[in-house]
Amino acid sequence: MALLTVKDLSVGFSSHVIVKGLNFSVNAGDYLCVVGENGSGKTTLMKTLLKLQEPISGQIIKGDSLKENEIGYLPQQTVVQKDFPASVYEIVLSGCQGAGGFRPFYNREEKKLARDNMERMGILSLSGRCYRELSGGQQQRVLLARALCATKKILLLDEPVSGLDPVVTSRMYSLISELNKEGISIIMISHDISSAVKYASHILHIGDRIFFGTKDQYLESNAGKFFLLQQRKAVYPGDVHFAPGSKGEESI
Ligand SMILES: Nc1ncnc2c1ncn2[C@@H]1O[C@H](COP(=O)(O)OP(=O)(O)OP(=O)(O)O)[C@@H](O)[C@H]1O
Ligand SMILES: [Mg+2]
Repeated sequence: MALLTVKDLSVGFSSHVIVKGLNFSVNAGDYLCVVGENGSGKTTLMKTLLKLQEPISGQIIKGDSLKENEIGYLPQQTVVQKDFPASVYEIVLSGCQGAGGFRPFYNREEKKLARDNMERMGILSLSGRCYRELSGGQQQRVLLARALCATKKILLLDEPVSGLDPVVTSRMYSLISELNKEGISIIMISHDISSAVKYASHILHIGDRIFFGTKDQYLESNAGKFFLLQQRKAVYPGDVHFAPGSKGEESI
């Protein structure tokens, strides 16, 4: 049975639907990348999967092997969160209680888990440092170590490379890919479609067009071709040409 199965899911706020008709599943070992334009509902979907908000309709079915609170979450960073006045150790340790907030006491196993995950992410030496004084890349490693405290099975990552330079971005992707190879399933929101298709096994594209399938199926789909082209146009303006007589179907 899949770790997570989503059936006819609609997500949004109160009765306002942001995205509807979502159907997909995540199996052990999958690496699902969620793509779509700003405001298309990616973060809303993730929060709904985490039960931080209610679905408007449809079902989210957890596999037998996945318990409540066994999902690691790296939230989309806001300016306020980047300025958080807690130590690295405190933030990592707070991951031991799933996606929730802080609590004052932790047991010995939880403290060991926090240290082990800081070591795994190469941030043990930063343990006593204040989170807000760290670089963007260090902060994302802290949040990844925190997410790992909640799970050995599945990580939900909301734009984990946002704001990072290309070198640090590439290291972060390698780190996530290693975790996936160790057997942790990944659901990652990303705007970086070329890296999404490089690392992911499956793609969920949400927005006006919804697509779910393997990476190869996505690359063959109209949604995939269109989105990839839009991104190339944004990155390399002027390098994309209209094919003669193509009525707007561009070729590169
Ligand atoms: N708490 C809220 N109450 C009402 N509407 C909200 C709330 N949070 C987000 N929205 C709206 O829901 C829509 C989807 O937001 P969401 O954050 O899920 O988009 P996103 O795909 O993650 O975008 P981005 O790529 O910019 O992170 C947006 O129109 C947003 O304004
Ligand atoms: Mg978002």
